[in-house]
Amino acid sequence: MAAVEKMQSPSPSKRTATLSVGDKNVSFPIYDGVEGPSVIDISKLYGETGFFTYDPGFMSTASCDSKITFIDGDKGILRYRGYDIDALAEKCDFLEVAYLLLNGELPNKKDKQSFDRTVTLHTMIHEQLHFLFRGFPRASHPMAIMVGAAASLSAFYHDSLDINVAGERELAAYRLIAKMPTLAAMAYKYSVGMPFIYPQNDMSFAENFLHMMFATPCEKYKVNPVLAKAMDKILILHADHEQNASTSTVRMAGSSGANPFACIGAGIASLWGPAHGGANEAVINMLKEIGDVSKIPDFIKKVKDKQSGIKLMGFGHRVYKNYDPRATVLRKTCQEVLAELGKIDEPLLKMAVELERIALSDEYFVERKLYPNVDFYSGIIYRAMGIPSKMFTVLFAVARTVGWVAQWKEMMEDPKTKIGRPRQLFTGSAPRAFVPLEKR
Ligand code: CMC
Repeated sequence: MAAVEKMQSPSPSKRTATLSVGDKNVSFPIYDGVEGPSVIDISKLYGETGFFTYDPGFMSTASCDSKITFIDGDKGILRYRGYDIDALAEKCDFLEVAYLLLNGELPNKKDKQSFDRTVTLHTMIHEQLHFLFRGFPRASHPMAIMVGAAASLSAFYHDSLDINVAGERELAAYRLIAKMPTLAAMAYKYSVGMPFIYPQNDMSFAENFLHMMFATPCEKYKVNPVLAKAMDKILILHADHEQNASTSTVRMAGSSGANPFACIGAGIASLWGPAHGGANEAVINMLKEIGDVSKIPDFIKKVKDKQSGIKLMGFGHRVYKNYDPRATVLRKTCQEVLAELGKIDEPLLKMAVELERIALSDEYFVERKLYPNVDFYSGIIYRAMGIPSKMFTVLFAVARTVGWVAQWKEMMEDPKTKIGRPRQLFTGSAPRAFVPLEKR
């Protein structure tokens, strides 16, 4: 693997920000990024003023500096290491993008060959791990299995888990990227009571995954190249997304020095929520619940009624206030996959297109800049491929593992890294006298 560019401290710009607290004026350095909003470094605020900042949900807080991914939410731009996401999705394969995210540069042919070979050498999992799967009820949600299975990998590699050794961090990165699809396909096979299918290292990353999902020991299974290409694109589109909830979780877990397998387990747990990676599954459930195009206006009415608590799943994003560029690619991929499978009349797709049309012209959504996000179309593609909805978020986790690992490595290689320890505004009880049980 090529050497990762050493993390450097951000250099202060000539500007400073001044805060008046009571009769004291305090100046803070401003740092400019290459693109995007500049930041005010308030790390000395508490020392100088005795105040904390207060920003639930990190609405205005940059938690780190990073060279990996850039998003301009207003313009609908997503770039990995400077390259536009649509160019990468069109022209690269997933492992090429994984190399880019980890190393900062696209590989040449030789580096690509050697990277692909190294990753594929790690696709198998320890046989003992099969017993971990067998301990779960068959009806378990595969994300529950994935949280445990990913973290449990640390039990198998404790001889090479020194996070302070670059070679061992790299090895953990290869292992995680290679083994996640194997674990994901096993979670699926287990849920349907079928034998596990071992990885095939002569296949591409996406082909191998589809093969492990759908092959059986009794019949030859030929992976459809259109579906493999679509899967590859989906993986690329989900590979990283800067400091989202699960990535921040991975960084936070890793900041204490926890091993990378445990950190990825934490990331998977965070991804599971319906406001994050669980939304693709929620989109399909929502479309099934709506049931028919004619019921969409009623459904939109409910979404707009704040009392209903119903959201239009697959719409809206904390950062994108424009069309999510990943959704643009997936909308087209969705049409290609459905055409290939002869499912272009799929009712759920028709409903999705109509829902999108109505929402994009409705004042409620326009005013709030709510556009389709990556999850709006991915679920329809997966469903057409025969992947059950419980597996959707698992696929997100397979892809995002690359981003998690790249971000974790970047953090570990950054000399500024400290344990993540936010503070709070205490709003509980003031000091009070203890009352013994018998007197309460
Ligand atoms: N349907 C209806 N109203 C919405 C939606 C939605 N999907 N999303 C946001 N709003 C409304 C929200 O009620 C609020 O209205 P008001 O200003 O009147 O109070 C306004 O838009 C701003 O929303 P917010 O909740 O303050 O925005 P946020 O940045 O905190 O939340 C979000 C972002 C993604 C959690 C939210 O848009 C949402 O829940 N969307 C549906 C779930 C979804 O599709 N999640 C996948 C995100 S993309 C994949 C990923 O990166 O994980």
